[in-house]
Amino acid sequence: MSAAPQALPRHIAVIMDGNGRWAAARGLTRTSGHKAGLKAVRLVIEECSQRRIEALTLFAFSSENWRRPAEEVGSLMSLFVEALDREIEELHRKAVAVRCIGERRSLTVRLQTRIAAAEERTRANPGLKLQVALSYGGRWDIIQAAQKLARETASGAMRAEEITEERFADQLALSGLPAPDLLIRTGGEQRISNFLLWDLAYAELYFSPALWPDFAAPDLEEALAFFAGRERRFGGTGVQRAVAKA
Ligand code: FPP
Repeated sequence: MSAAPQALPRHIAVIMDGNGRWAAARGLTRTSGHKAGLKAVRLVIEECSQRRIEALTLFAFSSENWRRPAEEVGSLMSLFVEALDREIEELHRKAVAVRCIGERRSLTVRLQTRIAAAEERTRANPGLKLQVALSYGGRWDIIQAAQKLARETASGAMRAEEITEERFADQLALSGLPAPDLLIRTGGEQRISNFLLWDLAYAELYFSPALWPDFAAPDLEEALAFFAGRERRFGGTGVQRAVAKA
């Protein structure tokens, strides 16, 4: 059966990998690589906004990234603060609603303050829903959801048998959004790296050899064309999907 053409993804998740290698190839510091990565961040936000894609979730700093040298961690935190300061008005003008997901109390107070201000400023915007994952890990997300539900059952507000997939998903960082239907990972590696472990259950996975700072409009086009060529069956058969659509 030929692949049915699909519309655009509703929600794109991105693992932005390759900044360090991009910098090393040019004899630059890793921090310069992260700075260069900002250009690709702007481009993907702009392209997704223009295409009216509902949501974009960017993996900017993982739970595991705390293990990097203190100097790199420090400069990444400063870069996030500077990026929020510099970009927030432009994002607001584009009607983007910004939200950060992750263990925010582990971030610097300065960054937490900027995040809260950016979320407050753009909360009501009707455009692209942009999630920036900072100090985020898929296992952390699942554990914090389980803890919330455990508290509810311990208090008697809910019975354990009442925990369903929907109720569980409601407690996750991406609650209220459609699950990502396309994951893009740049930098040539083919791993999920503890990103949205629950949410990516049915996502199409697209791996780009481009290093993140080099990721440009034609690379995104290619990822979207890949998505458009997939037949999404969600565990059913292609025939069932065709009958359901007829
Ligand atoms: C992974 O590349 C990238 C990161 C850990 C940082 C991502 C951050 C940015 C793109 C900067 C700005 C982002 C926002 C949303 C403001 P790597 O360092 O692991 O690269 P390598 O695998 O080549 O070493």
